[in-house]
Formats: sequence, C-alpha cells, structure tokens
Amino acid sequence: MKLSSPILLLSFVATAVAHGVVTTPTPRALGPANLAACGSVVNTILKADKYGPIENSIISPGPTYNATACHVFFCRGYQFADNVNNTRVYAPGTAVHFLVDMEAHHTGWANVSVVNLATQTPIARLFTWPVYANDTLGPPDWPKNETDFSVTIPDLGKQCATAGQCAIQWWWWGSQVKQTYESCVDFTQVRSG
Ligand SMILES: *[C@@H]1O[C@H](CO)[C@@H](O)[C@H](O)[C@H]1NC(C)=O
Ligand SMILES: *[C@@H]1O[C@H](CO)[C@@H](O)[C@H](O)[C@H]1NC(C)=O
Ligand SMILES: *[C@@H]1O[C@H](CO)[C@@H](O)[C@H](O)[C@H]1NC(C)=O
Ligand SMILES: *[C@@H]1O[C@H](CO)[C@@H](O)[C@H](O)[C@H]1NC(C)=O
Ligand SMILES: *[C@@H]1O[C@H](CO)[C@@H](O)[C@H](O)[C@H]1NC(C)=O
Repeated sequence: MKLSSPILLLSFVATAVAHGVVTTPTPRALGPANLAACGSVVNTILKADKYGPIENSIISPGPTYNATACHVFFCRGYQFADNVNNTRVYAPGTAVHFLVDMEAHHTGWANVSVVNLATQTPIARLFTWPVYANDTLGPPDWPKNETDFSVTIPDLGKQCATAGQCAIQWWWWGSQVKQTYESCVDFTQVRSG
C-alpha cells in the first residue's frame, strides 16, 4: 500500500478548487532544487496546482521531505537555486506592479513584505490587507487592489545587495478555510549613494 497515499492526495488536489498566485512579476517557479529539498510527493502536489493551498502538499509529505530545506511555508518551498536567473534589481523608490490571479476567494488577510531569505523573516512591510478575498462579496465589489497593486521598494541599506539575500513575498492566509498561499520574487538592490 506504499503508493496509495500519494495517489489519494493527488486525486484530492485535482478536485480541489484552485486559489491564488502572483503572475506579475513572474514569481519563483519549481525546479530540481525544490524536488531535492521537498521530496517527490510534495514536489508533485505543488506542481499539480500552482494556485493551491500549501497545506495540501504536506498532509503526507513522504520519506524524502526535508522540512528545513524545503521551508514549504516560506516562498511556498520554491528554492532560490531554481530561480537565480529570475532575480530582479530594484533601486530604492522603485514602484513594482503586481498582478494576482485569484481563482477562488477565501476570507482572510494578506500582506506583501520584503523578506530576508537566510533568516526567513520579514524586513519591511510593503502592503497590508487587514481583510483579503472576502468571499461574501460578488465580483463588482472585489477591491481592485487585491489583485492589481503596486509596492514601493524602500531603501534597504546593504541588506539586499547580493542575489539570494532578499525576496518580496506575497502572503495570504485564508483564516476560515485555514489555508496559506505564497509567491516570492527575488531581487537585489543596488544603491546609487
Ligand atoms: C535537511 O536540510 C538541512 C538544510 O539544508 C540540512 O542541513 C540537513 O542535513 C538535511 N537533513 C537531511 C536528513 O538530509
Ligand atoms: C542561469 O543562466 C545561466 C546562463 O544562461 C545558465 O548556465 C544556468 O543554467 C541558469 N540557471 C538556472 C537555474 O536556470
Ligand atoms: C503577513 O501575513 C502573515 C499571515 O497572516 C503573517 O504571519 C505575517 O506575520 C505577516 N507579515 C508581516 C511582515 O507582518
Ligand atoms: C465581508 O463583506 C461582508 C459584506 O460587505 C461584510 O458584512 C463582512 O463584514 C466582510 N468580512 C470581513 C471579515 O470584513
Ligand atoms: C485597497 O483598496 C481599498 C478600497 O477598495 C482601500 O480601502 C484600501 O485603503 C486600499 N489599500 C491600500 C494599502 O492602498
């Protein structure tokens, strides 16, 4: 029965409604470093539904899952090593336009932050939604800035001078369905001063 649990999980994921993901700027994607860190079960579930809640991927993560290396609740377990070539350069004051593809609304809250990749902690909060994706609202009442917004990159000193130090993380917690969605955009900051 070794195979039954991944197969059951995949059919569960396939029938679940998809939820949300950043589409602009092109966020981190899956690659071989994710497979190595997270194992094939988690990698397969993440790959099956890029919109899906992170929680689905670790219901039964399998023997090759390494929680520390995978950090599935940080940048959705997507690894910098797979995304080195997608590192942006954002000077202080740059306005970065974001688009979110939200396939289903789940009331909760959300934010966008600059995060330190080594410590996996936020450095600067760029956008906050105290209420996000209110699922009792119809399409005419959806706030535009939940899916189409800009953030201004602050002066981060030298903290983000090197690729692999910083990313922008979009983070949505559906507090009623208890589901997390995340996307990350890697960047460096070159300061003129
Ligand atoms: C899990 O990943 C961490 C961080 O990359 C590493 O230090 C550790 O050795 C790994 N554990 C196993 C069992 O591979
Ligand atoms: C990044 O680009 C370089 C040069 O084109 C290439 O050799 C390398 O394989 C790429 N890395 C990844 C992770 O795609
Ligand atoms: C962003 O939201 C998440 C989920 O609610 C929360 O855990 C995190 O602390 C928030 N980030 C910041 C920088 O407050
Ligand atoms: C969601 O929208 C409904 C209808 O406007 C409102 O009554 C409710 O308070 C909102 N939910 C939250 C968490 O703000
Ligand atoms: C997002 O839009 C709502 C109105 O739909 C507004 O109340 C709120 O202040 C905006 N948030 C930010 C951070 O601009």
